[in-house]
Amino acid sequence: MSKSAAPTLAMVTGASSGIGKSFAEILAARGTDLILVARNRERLEQLATTLRERHGRSVDVLVADLEQPKELALVEQRLRDDVRIDLLINNAGYGVTGSFADLPLERSLGQVGCNVVALTRLTHAALATMKPSRRGGIVNIASTAALLPTPYFSVYAATKAYVVNFSLALNEETKGHGVTVTVVCPGFTRTEFQSRADYDATSMPGFVWQTADDVARESLAAHAAGRTLCIPGLQNRVTAALTSLLPKSLLVSLIGRLTQQPRS
Ligand SMILES: NC(=O)c1ccc[n+]([C@@H]2O[C@H](COP(=O)([O-])OP(=O)(O)OC[C@H]3O[C@@H](n4cnc5c(N)ncnc54)[C@H](OP(=O)(O)O)[C@@H]3O)[C@@H](O)[C@H]2O)c1
Repeated sequence: MSKSAAPTLAMVTGASSGIGKSFAEILAARGTDLILVARNRERLEQLATTLRERHGRSVDVLVADLEQPKELALVEQRLRDDVRIDLLINNAGYGVTGSFADLPLERSLGQVGCNVVALTRLTHAALATMKPSRRGGIVNIASTAALLPTPYFSVYAATKAYVVNFSLALNEETKGHGVTVTVVCPGFTRTEFQSRADYDATSMPGFVWQTADDVARESLAAHAAGRTLCIPGLQNRVTAALTSLLPKSLLVSLIGRLTQQPRS
C-alpha cells in the first residue's frame, strides 16, 4: 500500500462496537471495502448495511469468536485466500479486572486467546499474502496499560505489552518487504470496554477521555505516515513520557492503589 492511498480492502476485527466500529466507518467513508469480524452478528449486519448504503462500499461480515480455534481458522483462511486485503486491523480485545488469583483462570486465558493468540495468528495469515506481494499494512491495537505492569489488570496489561513488543519487532522484519506494522496504545476511550471489564471509571476526570473516532483517526494517520508506534491523545503521550522517568517499582505500587477496587 502506498503511504498516502486509502487501502483497497481492510479486515477490522472487533468491528461491532467502539474503536473497531469507528475504524470501519472512517475507512468506508474514505473508499475502502471492508470485512467486519466480531461475535455479534446483528450489530455487524446493521453496520454493514449502513456502510453499503451510505458509502457504496462492498462490506462482508464474518461472524467469529476469535477465542474458538475453528472460528479463528476461518478468519485466517479468509486472509490467506483474499490477496486484495491490504490492511488488517487487529482491534478485537478485552480486559477483565480483579485479583488474578481470585478470577476464574478461564477468564484470564480468554484474554490471552483473544488479545495475543488470535492477533498473532491473524498477523501471520495476513503476511502470507502481504509479504510476497510487497503491499499492505497491519495495525495492532494495544493500550497504554502495555507500558506498565498493572495490578488487578495484570493479564490484560501483559497481553498488551506482548502486542507492543511483538509489533515493534515485527515491523523491523517486514518494513523492507513493503509491509508497515503500526501498534496503537490508546488510553481511556469511551466505548463498552470499561463495562465489559467490570471497571468503574466514573472517578476518572473528563480530560483523560478520548472518543473512539479520535483514536481510530489518529491511528490511521500514524499508519499512513509509516509510524510504528502511535499513542493517541496528547494527555496519553504526556503520561507515557512522565511515567517512563519514574522507577517501575514505585509506579506499580502507585497503580495498584489506583486500580484496586472495592468488591461487594
Ligand atoms: N476503550 C478503552 O479505554 C481502551 C483503552 C486501551 C485499549 N483498548 C483496546 O481497544 C480495542 C477495542 O476495544 P473498545 O474500547 O472498542 O471496546 P469494545 O467497545 O468493548 O469493543 C471490543 C470489540 O472486540 C470484540 N471482541 C471481544 N472479544 C471478542 C472475541 N472473543 N472474538 C471476536 N471479537 C471479540 C467485540 O465484539 P463482540 O462482542 O461482538 O464479539 C467488540 O467489537 C481492544 O483491543 C481494547 O483492548 C481500549
